[in-house]
Amino acid sequence: MTQRYVVRTFGCQMNEHDSERIAGLLEADGMMPTDSVEDADVIVLNTCCIRENADNKLYGHLGHLKSLKEQRPDLQIAVAGCLAQKDRDTIRERAPHVDVVFGTHNVHRAADLLTEAREQGPIVEILEETVLEDALAFPSVLPASRDSRHAAWVTIQIGCDNSCAFCIVPAVRGPEISRPFDTVVEEVRQLVDQGVVEVTLLGQNVNSYGRDITKRRPLFAELLREVGAIEGIRRVRYTSPHPKDLRPETISAMAEVPTVCEHLHLPLQSGSDRVLAAMHRGYTGERYLQKLAAARDAVADLAVTTDIIVGFPGETEDDFARTLEVAAEAAYDSAYTFIYSPRPGTEAADRVEDFVDPDVVAERFERLRVVIERSAVAKHAARVGRTEEVVVEGPARRDPDLTSGRTRQNKLVHFAADGLRPGAVATVEITGAGAHHLRGDLQEVVASPRHRLRIPVVAG
Ligand code: 5AD
Ligand code: SF4
Repeated sequence: MTQRYVVRTFGCQMNEHDSERIAGLLEADGMMPTDSVEDADVIVLNTCCIRENADNKLYGHLGHLKSLKEQRPDLQIAVAGCLAQKDRDTIRERAPHVDVVFGTHNVHRAADLLTEAREQGPIVEILEETVLEDALAFPSVLPASRDSRHAAWVTIQIGCDNSCAFCIVPAVRGPEISRPFDTVVEEVRQLVDQGVVEVTLLGQNVNSYGRDITKRRPLFAELLREVGAIEGIRRVRYTSPHPKDLRPETISAMAEVPTVCEHLHLPLQSGSDRVLAAMHRGYTGERYLQKLAAARDAVADLAVTTDIIVGFPGETEDDFARTLEVAAEAAYDSAYTFIYSPRPGTEAADRVEDFVDPDVVAERFERLRVVIERSAVAKHAARVGRTEEVVVEGPARRDPDLTSGRTRQNKLVHFAADGLRPGAVATVEITGAGAHHLRGDLQEVVASPRHRLRIPVVAG
């Protein structure tokens, strides 16, 4: 009988993309997806360790799965991803009902490890380093497993060479490795052939893409131009650039290549120069704002989003006030705001005596939320009355009678439309705005989805 699998993802886009790869491998191995853990023969939890609550979520989830495993001993449970990479043997010590643990460097072994564990019993396989050939040869194209048939993530680089004091990523994901230029371009070409109209180029620090493979810089701007010129591609996005490495060439490519979307996700982390220095971010609040102003000057109608951490060790009221000031001046379209979470082994986690009182952090977090919401509402309200191009995502989550689409600025628009399939392109007049989405009236359908309804499974 065909085995059924579920992959649950806790974490960032890189993790979601890894989950698609895992799903692709399991499907290539003959399994079928299911939505419910009750029906599944294999459950893979793909984890993140960037903030602490991911740990709690994982162990909470594993707790729930324990009784399921007791009822059905044949059920296989695997834990993958950053937390697996970091915690290694601890996972099976805390949750002995886990059958397979694998990390970020051996995602490609997902199906094999499950088979081996079925025959030999539990396996923990964590590689210390990326095996270059595996990482680079491994296609991120496993079509049947993608959540979306019209949009795809494309990894251009793995790992990170920075050393932000709060961040565990370099320790877990290892040094930066860029995928060869031609491999990335070829992958996007193949995706377009399969009907993909939108790609997001993924890396921890995309602006340093290519630093390890060529002295000819900056390669990232060139990559944007090359990918953006592929026939049939409608939208190119990327995430995330590091402010210190954001170069004029990248901004020019954004301004000049029509397919590159008008959206910049530029993580601020803090507005205080003192905190930024302690974080080793390599820029000041002023420098950040200058880069942002240059990007806005060059790219008309640029939407800007960010990441901000509240309560970094030693953050004073003055430091935080500066974060509010810079955030207000940056006038973000939206922001991911995080409470600082000490990650064992990172520099900042040792500054225990400087940890900020949780009540103070909670109060600052709320003040930041208000500032972000104010600019988000204003940015959205300014779009009312305009006609925007959207790519349809599917029924709106909250109201399935409505359809959701994304604008080039990555804003979600809900509108009434009968029978528009995901991947269709339409114009919508914006009629209303909230802090997190827009509402609109359908004007015209510009293009139908190009992908076939069912794409055959292609093994990697
Ligand atoms: N605590 C809180 N937020 C963090 N981030 C990374 N590490 C931590 C941490 N230890 C946030 C940063 C980063 C985003 C992906 O996660 O803002 O840009
Ligand atoms: Fe972490 Fe900094 Fe690297 Fe981003 S650039 S992954 S925050 S170390």
